[in-house]
Amino acid sequence: MGSNCNPSKRVEYRKEKDELRDKLKHIRFPALELSKTKGESLASEQNITKSLSKKAINLPKKKFYRQRAHSNPFSDHQLEYPKSPNEMNWTKLYPGFVDPNDPTKLLSKVTIADIGCGYGGLLVDLAPHFPHDLILGMEIRVQVTNYVEDRIIALRSKDPNGKKYQNIGVLRGNAMKFTPNFFEKGQLTKIFFCFPDPHFKQRKHKARIVTKTLLSEYAYVLKEGGIIYTITDVLDLHEWMVKHLQEHPLFARLDAEWENEDLCVSIMRNATEEGKKVERNKGDKYIACFKRLPNPEIIL
Ligand SMILES: C[S@@+](CC[C@H](N)C(=O)[O-])C[C@H]1O[C@@H](n2cnc3c(N)ncnc32)[C@H](O)[C@@H]1O
Repeated sequence: MGSNCNPSKRVEYRKEKDELRDKLKHIRFPALELSKTKGESLASEQNITKSLSKKAINLPKKKFYRQRAHSNPFSDHQLEYPKSPNEMNWTKLYPGFVDPNDPTKLLSKVTIADIGCGYGGLLVDLAPHFPHDLILGMEIRVQVTNYVEDRIIALRSKDPNGKKYQNIGVLRGNAMKFTPNFFEKGQLTKIFFCFPDPHFKQRKHKARIVTKTLLSEYAYVLKEGGIIYTITDVLDLHEWMVKHLQEHPLFARLDAEWENEDLCVSIMRNATEEGKKVERNKGDKYIACFKRLPNPEIIL
């Protein structure tokens, strides 16, 4: 915790934000516009908008959300997850994409995932470039996830037309355990691993977010031709990810020319909070991108 953050102030700030988040995270901005189209939510949404001042919600302050850098991916975090993708209620994360003819459904599906999204910089920078795609950040740390939710709420509230940042969402989840619970086979077109935790010690390598087993899960949820993006400042981790991806029969590395021309590579270089830190410290950034190959034909 930063020394400039008084603990009681932090508790008060978090309490206030928790209450606001509970009220607002499912609300489409501007809320009154939604009320016109959905009779049943009219009263509650009008009450919420009345209780808020007219001005946009402030962006959250990161110092109040800091928590330990690492969260053990093997421990039981009492995470909520659907039994299968069709049991997942995405309308809560993307209220701006709710189907006006069926409020239980969305007009699009999540197609882009940022695994271990941290403070959400990549989501925010990708949002305007992919206005028709739903982009999801998955993050294991509670306070960090809360920060990203509050960031998205604030950014949405600042747009008077209620259009911007409707296509990004975050959920608290452990990508090592539950990825196929959230996504159907071939649902995703892009998966990002930006500056994943390096887990330097050999006995901790099994906690890395890219392993042989996990790659088969990522291959399952990624459509043929979809891309896995990786970036790190740790050479050993870069070599580990490249080795595992190269050894996997369903991935092929894309070359430097492809990387230089790809929009997402240029966004990913500097969008994330870790990427910015590495830039300030003039560190190296190692990139590797892999394409999902078609499933091999089974000859009987
Ligand atoms: C070093 S940070 C990088 C954050 C962000 N991608 C960036 O570049 O700024 C790695 C993040 O991955 C999260 N993380 C680690 N293991 C995870 C897992 N199994 N599932 C989801 N998130 C995880 C951590 O909590 C942390 O926020």
